[in-house]
Amino acid sequence: MRVLAAVVLTAFAAAASRCAAAGANKPLLVENLPASAEAKDFIRAGCNETCIRRPDAARACYELLLPYAASINSSYNRASLAIVTVMVSKLADLAKDLRSFGEAGKLEGCIRMLDETVAGARDQALPALGRISAIADDKLKAKDPDFLLVWNWLRDVDINFVKCWDGGLKRIMDRVPSSIVADHSEYAAAAIISRPRLKWAPQSPDGENP
Ligand SMILES: *[C@@H]1O[C@H](CO)[C@@H](O)[C@H](O)[C@H]1NC(C)=O
Ligand SMILES: *[C@@H]1O[C@H](CO)[C@@H](O)[C@H](O)[C@H]1NC(C)=O
Repeated sequence: MRVLAAVVLTAFAAAASRCAAAGANKPLLVENLPASAEAKDFIRAGCNETCIRRPDAARACYELLLPYAASINSSYNRASLAIVTVMVSKLADLAKDLRSFGEAGKLEGCIRMLDETVAGARDQALPALGRISAIADDKLKAKDPDFLLVWNWLRDVDINFVKCWDGGLKRIMDRVPSSIVADHSEYAAAAIISRPRLKWAPQSPDGENP
């Protein structure tokens, strides 16, 4: 929770410095605001329609994003910021658990990758997603530099996470439950960001075209 708060604050700080001149320094994501039925339905349908090959990840996606339903307010751009914010906190939780796990030595590569992913998110991906979240879904362009940055970053995260998963995480997932949450959030982040825009860069999170 503390990590999530820090990440949200980082995104908030980035947005605040950008918007200070306009006097619109509202936080981008607020947890547990009362949400309309429509805003909640968007989360349910959005998670279901993007995580189409992983019902387990779709369920996790829904549970992880529901507290932000009001902030997301039926926008994939804002849902993208929310799911990556959540993913980063879950990857940080996993890195912490792996450090205290007995076999940590064998997972050093994973821990390093997770640390780098969290740092990269704070420096680049989350600020870019903060800017994207201020744009209406139908106004975001395929060549938006922030979107391309996020897309490329997330593709690398996905490749590295799968490598880590197959290289050892899968073996210990029952003993380190945060690895399952991290896996779900990572899949859901890739799905929410890329599936609604498959035509922009025809590569789905499952590695095949629809
Ligand atoms: C989930 O999506 C599938 C197909 O994408 C659809 O058939 C199904 O009705 C959806 N379920 C819910 C609960 O929205
Ligand atoms: C949610 O989106 C609708 C339609 O875009 C807008 O009219 C409304 O003001 C938004 N609500 C909040 C709380 O931002």
